[in-house]
Amino acid sequence: TWTMSSYVETSVKQIREQVGDARVICALSGGVDSSVAAVLTHRAIGDRLTCVFVDNGLLRQGEVEKVRKTFAAQFKMNVRVLGKGREFLAALARTIDPERKRKIIGRLFIKFFEAEAMRNGKAAYLVQGTLYPDVIESVSFKGPSATIKTHHNVGGLPTRMKLRLIEPLRELFKDEVRVLGKELGIADEIVWRQPFPGPGLAIRIIGTVTEDRLRIVREADVIVLEEIKRAGLYRDTWQAFAVLLPIKSVGVMGDQRTYEHVVAVRAVTSLDGMTADWARLPGEVLATISSRIINEVRGVNRVVYDISSKPPSTIEWE
Ligand code: XMP
Repeated sequence: TWTMSSYVETSVKQIREQVGDARVICALSGGVDSSVAAVLTHRAIGDRLTCVFVDNGLLRQGEVEKVRKTFAAQFKMNVRVLGKGREFLAALARTIDPERKRKIIGRLFIKFFEAEAMRNGKAAYLVQGTLYPDVIESVSFKGPSATIKTHHNVGGLPTRMKLRLIEPLRELFKDEVRVLGKELGIADEIVWRQPFPGPGLAIRIIGTVTEDRLRIVREADVIVLEEIKRAGLYRDTWQAFAVLLPIKSVGVMGDQRTYEHVVAVRAVTSLDGMTADWARLPGEVLATISSRIINEVRGVNRVVYDISSKPPSTIEWE
């Protein structure tokens, strides 16, 4: 009879045996898998674990504080937050092509993560939140779409460092990871998080990424998620987010003509991200999202709702 608390016990024991008295690092993304893997490892070896969180400037609002609050304040873990927003933005300047965006972001991530790992001295192990489906699918959980988009994630990165892997979740499915997360005392806010792509908001800004466009998509994203949660639809929705389009359209405000940006709202239902259907959100929820974005986000005068399924569309626009 298999329970989560015995899973914790067994894993903790295994991690201790595997690691001995070596040091361990992990790349925190703030997502469910890396969070649960980190907390589990921390339970096993405490201060010998250092978590590295790269703030690439492409994160959602409040993300850095959330990570600090959870991992440093609540769990008392060693967390190194690397503020690298300016470097990422500079490297992305004028880049339009989605795959180039991914490559630039992926490379910089590896660079900063490796530099930090070296600084950390004798770390010999790297924690990864690899799940069972990642193990059985040869290509990674993104499956065939990996040939369509080179999904970069924080997993499987450092090659030069010769770090050995600790993968405490490799026998679990996503729903089991959530139960495990709860067992470890991780807040629902993290345990039930919707997926968020590694390249972040950069691939939700169609065209070039600038500070001002980041502000727009970030503010719109907050509104989408607030309203989805308020309507009680967060857990039933695989992902809900805002996309900033590279066009302007004409509007009217008072008796003034406006000429401003268009935001697309995307919400999908899905079991694994491989296929997805657009979410039939209630009209009132869409209405609130639309009027809030137009009223509260400076520079936007139009909101459209994406009614495409995957395939043939994909979940993200880039
Ligand atoms: P698509 O857009 O391919 O997305 O239908 C499927 C799922 O993968 C996420 N996604 C990514 N995740 N790096 C990631 O870590 C990426 O480059 C990336 N691109 C898409 C997407 O959010 C969805 O959950």
